[in-house]
Amino acid sequence: MKPDVEPPAPVVVDEADLLHRARDARRHAYVPYSGFHVGVAVLSASGQIHTGANVENAAYPLGGCAEQTAIRAMVAGGDLGPILAVAVVGDGEDPCTPCGGCRQVIFEHGPRAQVLASGDGGRPLRTTINELLPHAFGPHRLGLGVRDAL
Ligand code: THU
Repeated sequence: MKPDVEPPAPVVVDEADLLHRARDARRHAYVPYSGFHVGVAVLSASGQIHTGANVENAAYPLGGCAEQTAIRAMVAGGDLGPILAVAVVGDGEDPCTPCGGCRQVIFEHGPRAQVLASGDGGRPLRTTINELLPHAFGPHRLGLGVRDAL
C-alpha cells in the first residue's frame, strides 16, 4: 500500500551544474581591492540552489566572502538546509578552497556537505566539510540538534 505522505525525493548533486552556476555567479563579484573573483553555488536539501559572490568594501574588514554571502541569503530567505553541497570557483588555475571562516559557516548549515573547489584550469577538487574542518566546533557542542541531511 502507498503511504499517505510520500517521502521527499532524494536530491541528486549534479556537480557539473553546481560548478557552472558558481562560475556564473563569479561574474557578480565586487572586488575592486583584491581583484580576486569568487563565485559560489550552494545546494540545499530543499533542492534549491543559492548563489553568491564576494563583495568587498573600502573599509576592508567589512568585505564578505562568496560562501557566506550565499549561505546567509539561503537562510535569510527561509531555506534552513541542510546544505548538501557547495561549489566554489575562484580566479586562477588552482582550486579555490574555502577560507577558514567559510568552513565554519558551511559546517553550521551543512555538517555533512560535499565541497567542490575549482579554478579555471584542471579538475575540481572534491572533498567534504569534515575533511576541511576536522573536529569542528558546531551546534552539537552547544546541545543543539543538527538537521540531518535526507
Ligand atoms: N574569498 C572568498 O570569497 N571566499 C574564500 O573562501 C576565500 C576568499 C574572497 C575574499 C576576498 O574578497 C578575496 O577572495 C581575496 O581574499
